Amino acid sequence: MSILYRSDAPRAAAWASYFAEHAPELDFRVWPDAGNLDEVEYLIAWQAPAEFIAKLPRLKVFFSSGAGVDHVDFSAVPKHIPIVRMVEPGIIDGMVEYVSLAVLALHRDFFDYVAAKAARTWDPLEVPPASARTIGVMGMGSLGSAVLQRLANYGFRLRGWNRSLRHLDNVESFAGPDQLQHFLKGCDILICLVPLTSATKGILNRKLFSALPAGASLINVGRGPHLVDADLLEALDSGQLSRAILDVTDPEPLPAEHPFWAHPRVFLTPHVASMTQPESAAPILLDNLRRHQRGEALLNVIDRSRGY
Ligand code: GLV
Repeated sequence: MSILYRSDAPRAAAWASYFAEHAPELDFRVWPDAGNLDEVEYLIAWQAPAEFIAKLPRLKVFFSSGAGVDHVDFSAVPKHIPIVRMVEPGIIDGMVEYVSLAVLALHRDFFDYVAAKAARTWDPLEVPPASARTIGVMGMGSLGSAVLQRLANYGFRLRGWNRSLRHLDNVESFAGPDQLQHFLKGCDILICLVPLTSATKGILNRKLFSALPAGASLINVGRGPHLVDADLLEALDSGQLSRAILDVTDPEPLPAEHPFWAHPRVFLTPHVASMTQPESAAPILLDNLRRHQRGEALLNVIDRSRGY
């Protein structure tokens, strides 16, 4: 019984050493040393190209090495093979850190002070209490919920929007397309953490921006295609939005001539908000794999029809 790891190469050694120590009975292989592909029953990978999946006749489970599965071609994975997304504490902690940093940097005007320092200007801005700001999170899954819970510690007013209604302490919840406008109306800082699906592609658009209070800010830690770039530029230039912090773009890497690079009110990071951490992900994956071997239901299986 073999497991094949075919993902982020620099982290492969950490995955292999976890399995060697905690599951020495399992034959853990790292691509390209895959051995006989006929023996591979479990695949840990980012992509699942059809021609590769076709070479794995005994494949039982496809484990995505990342939290999002929007890049996976579901049709390449035969229907009887479950696709499992990565939900692990390391990814969640990374996202909570990044979003907290971004929210606090906006809340405490750090980007204004970066510009003020460059201009040698001593110009104190008013410091409103956290309770005077409303932060809205689109997507209340494992990442969005963890972000909301941490932000509650700072005393922000919190709102969450989700496909189906979710309740969280200290969070005003909204659900579905019907309540989106109402949700947006109160958000001073909007965070996009919804999965990318045909229903959410382009959701960060002119109509959405115009429903936010004037001067709101955007943090996109979802996927680049959630955002309509031209609509963001227009909203920033008209003052409808004051800033955008983008960890994801479309395409990635963002081409050097793209207007986001030079825009003074767009802050960019190269898709680093959060990454799967082998130390915390390997135990979760091994536990899930053992559930499968015992004939129990796998955790975090995606719903192909929903897209996540
Ligand atoms: C990263 O973007 C992931 O989906 O894990």
